[in-house]
Amino acid sequence: MSEIENAVPYPIFHEPVFAEDKATHDPTAFLTDHPSDTALYKQVDDLLKKQVVGFEKSRIGPDQLFTLEEAYGPRGKDVVKKISDAGRIVFHAIGDSGSTSEGKQYQDELAVTDQLTMDCNVTEVANRPSFLLHLGDVVYDFGEAQYYYDQFYEPFRDYPAPIFAIPGNHDSFVLPNTPAGQTPLDTFSRNFCSQTLVITPEAGSLHRTAMTQPGVYYALDMPFVRVLCLFSNALEDPGVISSDGGNWPDVPDFQLEFLEAQLQKIKDEDYKGAVLIAVHHPPFSYAPSTSVKGAGGSHGCSTAMLRQIDTICKKVGVYPHAFLSGHAHNYQRYTRTVEMDGKSFDVPFIVCGDGGHHVNRIVRARRGSSTEEPHFGIDVSYLDVKPAINAKGVMLEKYNDQGYGYLRISADKDQVAIGFHLVGQTSLAQSRFDKVTVDLASHEMIAN
Ligand SMILES: [Fe+2]
Repeated sequence: MSEIENAVPYPIFHEPVFAEDKATHDPTAFLTDHPSDTALYKQVDDLLKKQVVGFEKSRIGPDQLFTLEEAYGPRGKDVVKKISDAGRIVFHAIGDSGSTSEGKQYQDELAVTDQLTMDCNVTEVANRPSFLLHLGDVVYDFGEAQYYYDQFYEPFRDYPAPIFAIPGNHDSFVLPNTPAGQTPLDTFSRNFCSQTLVITPEAGSLHRTAMTQPGVYYALDMPFVRVLCLFSNALEDPGVISSDGGNWPDVPDFQLEFLEAQLQKIKDEDYKGAVLIAVHHPPFSYAPSTSVKGAGGSHGCSTAMLRQIDTICKKVGVYPHAFLSGHAHNYQRYTRTVEMDGKSFDVPFIVCGDGGHHVNRIVRARRGSSTEEPHFGIDVSYLDVKPAINAKGVMLEKYNDQGYGYLRISADKDQVAIGFHLVGQTSLAQSRFDKVTVDLASHEMIAN
């Protein structure tokens, strides 16, 4: 054993392990007791609105890529060649999967993870997902190490592919009196940003090795797609990706430098693939206009964060093909029309935060009055407050606030398609609730 291997307290593997050898039945209860969180929430309610966290700079340079090939280890070259030869990649994305109590709620998370696993195992090879990107809120309530087994490793025990993640607010908010070195981001980093292929204590007796992404923000590169993953910090709302000119002095500005470097690289390379931005807090999340009955859902828009992203996109002259988010516990799909360099194009903004934790209605009743649910295809341009780019309008195209689900994203050299699937259906085709397809060269949406 080398000196480095000796220095690591966990066993090192020479290639990554994803699934268990043999499939097992779903658990019926948590291994570690998870008491009610009501008292805990009362205690930290105020902090959730103001306590942001610092984080470390990515291990690799702002313009460098973390590749799917690396994540697959020695098999990576072969896996990526097969995807390239097939001319198409498919992958999953979910948000907010962590479950907080025994019984029924755990079944909701397991229903999602079981369907994701089945999709990898039974779908024909050419249409089989190659990995999962978790859009944050992996472990509730606050990313505690003792709950990683029940909420992450066990539900995904048979998922046979890499799982990347961006931390959500629940994976980063620090409870009062947390000892140094044991913050949620420390635990997240041990399990998702490992420098070596180890099995962490959080995995218990299971064999999935820790993910080796280079930090809490990174550019994930693969054939046909590049995903720019941003960490939007620990507030319940809004998402915070930088110090915002001193508003959040504890938050470093690494991600602004990273985003600019990555977009510049895309421009300099004349990159032809799909460019996606993934961030836990949604730039747009529904709230009714003042003339409509009802209040918005539990989680709102993060417009200041979007302005910072837009400012950099505008400066470089590159706009992503789509945005992916979680956090709001439902599915929402918006189309934002953007004008850049004299060209107008439509950009899907997708919220997928119904991965197992909860499903929230898109509107809530105001005291003493009924709610009015929005129709599909309504103009919600009022959500786009003081855009930093030439924005021409926002439409709420479709939403689902009744069931749990996940995204199934596919791309080839010409198009990227993002489908939303509900769990509990008998076939892949039946499970698809919505799908949007974007032409890569023109950014035009293509009718499905
Ligand atoms: Fe969240």
